[in-house]
Amino acid sequence: MTIDPTELETVAFTVEDGVAWVKFNRPDKRNCMSPKLNRQMMRVLDELEFRDDVGVLVLTGEGTAWTAGMDLKEYFRETEAQGLRGTRGAQRESYGWWARLRWYQKPTIAMINGWCFGGGYGPLFACDLAFAAEEAHFGLSEINWGILPGGGAAKVATELTSFRKAMYHALTGENIDGKTAAEWGFVNEAVPLSGLKARVSEVAKVLLGKNPVALKATKDAIRRVREMTYDNAQDYLIRAQEAANSYDNDGRKEGIKQFIDDKTYKPGLGAYDKTKATK
Ligand code: ACO
Repeated sequence: MTIDPTELETVAFTVEDGVAWVKFNRPDKRNCMSPKLNRQMMRVLDELEFRDDVGVLVLTGEGTAWTAGMDLKEYFRETEAQGLRGTRGAQRESYGWWARLRWYQKPTIAMINGWCFGGGYGPLFACDLAFAAEEAHFGLSEINWGILPGGGAAKVATELTSFRKAMYHALTGENIDGKTAAEWGFVNEAVPLSGLKARVSEVAKVLLGKNPVALKATKDAIRRVREMTYDNAQDYLIRAQEAANSYDNDGRKEGIKQFIDDKTYKPGLGAYDKTKATK
């Protein structure tokens, strides 16, 4: 089946030095998420996930927005006009790629270059790390046009920041800038827009130096244990490490060897040299 070219162009990407730079690419519409964009994003994630030349995925936006949330016309009005089938279909497409991103094989970084509203909190939380421009704006604007922060947005706010802040943010619809987003825990750091790509590249490079099996096991562990009791978490982590060993026993043994026998690095101060691992 041929795909409508206007659908293909809603997402852009390049792969450079192990990093996939994926962009929401509807700058004229402030990168709001239409059903077309949601379908195309899933295709792009699918294409990049297991490529050997991709070690880290960065999600950013073309133009002045990261994403202005859901497309009020194409995602809400036009799908609602198709009845429940249209609404549920559109929800499945957007929630589908956010879930895919939450459990993505490679570590992911949200690079918030500008506006980030409502539905944008789904992919924000789906990315493992997040870095914002100080000039960016974050808002749960749903209340401003008469709905509640759905599609996971309310959950994301309460996951990432305190109850009082989440409640204030959702009830008032007031925006916060990148700096405040970092203080609230929405993102890891905020830096001036001019230095954002350099900072994200630096972090991506750190991740590219780590054992990829351990990265996937670690990112899943951090997400999973949040909802577990201490004992359940401890048990899950034993099983998860043992499962990871079956994919990559040698990496872990090399890590121990370079510290204990070769004395070439200290795990408390950096990562072992992956290139010396004998497979
Ligand atoms: N849905 C549909 N169209 C949108 C959206 C959106 N979420 N955001 C922007 N657009 C469109 C505008 O309608 C406009 O279209 P046009 O050129 O055909 O008139 C175009 O994108 C540019 O938008 P402007 O408003 O002109 O851009 P500006 O830079 O002045 O403002 C801002 C940017 C503040 C992001 C503004 O566009 C806005 O408020 N957008 C809506 C944000 C929002 O509340 N999103 C929904 C969150 S709730 C949810 O996701 C469930």
